Amino acid sequence: MSRTLKIGIIGSGGIAGSHVKAYQELADVEIVAVADQIPGKAAQFIDFWRIPSAQPFDDYRKLLELELDGVSICTPNVAHYQTTVDSLRAGKNVMLEKPMSVTLEEAVEMAQTAKQTGFMLNVGFQPRYDPNMKIIQDVVQSGQLGKVYYVETGGGRRRGMPGGTFISKEIAGAGAMADIGCYSLDMALNAMGYPKPLTVSAYSSNYFGTNPLYHNEASRFDVEDFGVAMIRFEDDLVLNFKISWAMHMDTLGPTLFLGTDGGLKVTPAGKGPWSGVFDGNVGAITYFHDVRGHHTESQIPLIEHNKNLFNEKVRDFVEAVREGKPAPIPGEQIVRNQAIIDGIIRSSLSKREVTIDLL
Ligand SMILES: NC(=O)c1ccc[n+]([C@@H]2O[C@H](COP(=O)([O-])OP(=O)(O)OC[C@H]3O[C@@H](n4cnc5c(N)ncnc54)[C@H](O)[C@@H]3O)[C@@H](O)[C@H]2O)c1
Repeated sequence: MSRTLKIGIIGSGGIAGSHVKAYQELADVEIVAVADQIPGKAAQFIDFWRIPSAQPFDDYRKLLELELDGVSICTPNVAHYQTTVDSLRAGKNVMLEKPMSVTLEEAVEMAQTAKQTGFMLNVGFQPRYDPNMKIIQDVVQSGQLGKVYYVETGGGRRRGMPGGTFISKEIAGAGAMADIGCYSLDMALNAMGYPKPLTVSAYSSNYFGTNPLYHNEASRFDVEDFGVAMIRFEDDLVLNFKISWAMHMDTLGPTLFLGTDGGLKVTPAGKGPWSGVFDGNVGAITYFHDVRGHHTESQIPLIEHNKNLFNEKVRDFVEAVREGKPAPIPGEQIVRNQAIIDGIIRSSLSKREVTIDLL
């Protein structure tokens, strides 16, 4: 029998419940503490989720004084940086909710802290656990597309704007890009082996979120509900990225990988106002290439599965902690994702192309 791993949860809002459910499915894992800055909220959460083994805290720094093998950080984006750095410095492995942070400087420091302390910083992009995402990655990395020079990704919801902590710059940092764009970027960049971004030229707007006709919290909505960007990478690769929480259109199109020997089209699954984004739901994967000069296209069969992707990401984190393996989705890699979002914000504000300075 293996040792019971002790877990703490920081931030006890909506997504923290999914972390609890995932940990509760695993053998030899115990949630021993929950912290939330709203006085009494952690205790209510412990009652609601029936976790008698857990102690409540109003200050997460008190939680970090306990002996813990790992913490799930489930705070709004703006608090990801400080809670992560403090957790790593306190010797805890971190399972961090997406997006990684609000600014690039924060993300860089978070990744550096993981390196310096030797504790794990794992960022929770659960769509990576969809077996169809693995197919896409395998095809792109097999070389059968030749040199991939252009990728287009993102997508859009006809209507799908959240509210609460997601629509305030002060708390979320960014809107649709940080919420769903970070997933699309992760899917495409992970398939490509996370190339290094060099420049970004972007536009963003919030005509829907700020209009009371479309959002009942319009007066406090100050993030983007639409963004588009052209990103240049090392090795002559460009990415056309577009993301929308709301628009008068059914779709912003599929994800495309164009290579010198072949192309791959990934159509998002689902119908309806909240669908249409490349965030883990794959409707179809089509491979385009020439056979003896004939234009050929083949449908790659999708893998039917009933995996709970969220639980998979938590299970993988726990396994890595238990076995002393590296972070499954390392902060060091996701810095590049955050660098692009940061570049999009800077470029949209300055209305100019901006450079991304990463080591
Ligand atoms: N992976 C996913 O599928 C998924 C889905 C939804 C949200 N998220 C991410 O999870 C995070 C939280 O989202 P949510 O919907 O649960 O938000 P939420 O607002 O419902 O909950 C966040 C909680 O954190 C608490 N908090 C804030 N600062 C804190 C601090 N310094 N210390 C302790 N507690 C603090 C708040 O009081 C609140 O209770 C966001 O970063 C979001 O992007 C991920």
